[in-house]
Amino acid sequence: MRKALPNLMAELKDYSKGSDTTGTQWTTLWFAVREILKHRPACILECGTGASTIVLASAVKKLKAEDPSYDGHIVSMESVKEWYDTAQGCLPEKYRDVVEIVLGPREKYEIGMFRGYLHGNIPRKSYDFVFLDGPSFADEKGSAFCADVLRVLEFTEAPVVRGVIDGRTSSGFVLQTMFGVPAARYFLPNMAGVFEIETAALRSDHTSTDFGSTVMGRLYLKHRSRR
Ligand SMILES: C[S@@+](CC[C@H](N)C(=O)[O-])C[C@H]1O[C@@H](n2cnc3c(N)ncnc32)[C@H](O)[C@@H]1O
Repeated sequence: MRKALPNLMAELKDYSKGSDTTGTQWTTLWFAVREILKHRPACILECGTGASTIVLASAVKKLKAEDPSYDGHIVSMESVKEWYDTAQGCLPEKYRDVVEIVLGPREKYEIGMFRGYLHGNIPRKSYDFVFLDGPSFADEKGSAFCADVLRVLEFTEAPVVRGVIDGRTSSGFVLQTMFGVPAARYFLPNMAGVFEIETAALRSDHTSTDFGSTVMGRLYLKHRSRR
């Protein structure tokens, strides 16, 4: 990480003076940076604002510096007003042109037998990268899951939606159950996941001979493993 983003550590130290964030695991942050630098997503949705916003923004700025025609930007969703205000106040000036922080109080999201939560208010854009580290996914029945990526799949026009999951094992379980192991890897010892969902395949391949398909389309992707 130090090699890829040399100024990051100093920026995170500065950020921590203003925001007592819970933070994201380094493994997940590295997965995100690695994927962003490799695939150059145009439209990133971050779920759970904080120090991770600085990391994502730093990767986007690096790509922009290398290639001024790259036009990546980040929509960062925060579900809690108090943390939203803190994050707005702490976002460094140099990142304000690539980051938009949006307050989106959490809402319930249910699909089939799965019970989840997501941020309300997600701006409708063609996201091609989702960073999953919020909102809170526990309720009176126990652990649900974070469902923002499923909402994105409803409207994005990107052919592939990539992303990472921090902690949130239940989210890794749901994505892997719905889309298959090649599309959604979850590294249990690290409690971190990486996914790559081909949206076109979801809409076109109609078969109904396995549990990954419905009359509306295929949920379980059969594409080869790339990892
Ligand atoms: C896992 S945290 C997100 C952390 C964020 N990605 C970061 O790098 O700091 C998930 C949610 O917890 C809340 N939160 C943030 N900082 C917090 C803190 N210091 N204590 C408790 N909750 C916090 C916010 O609502 C946040 O979106």
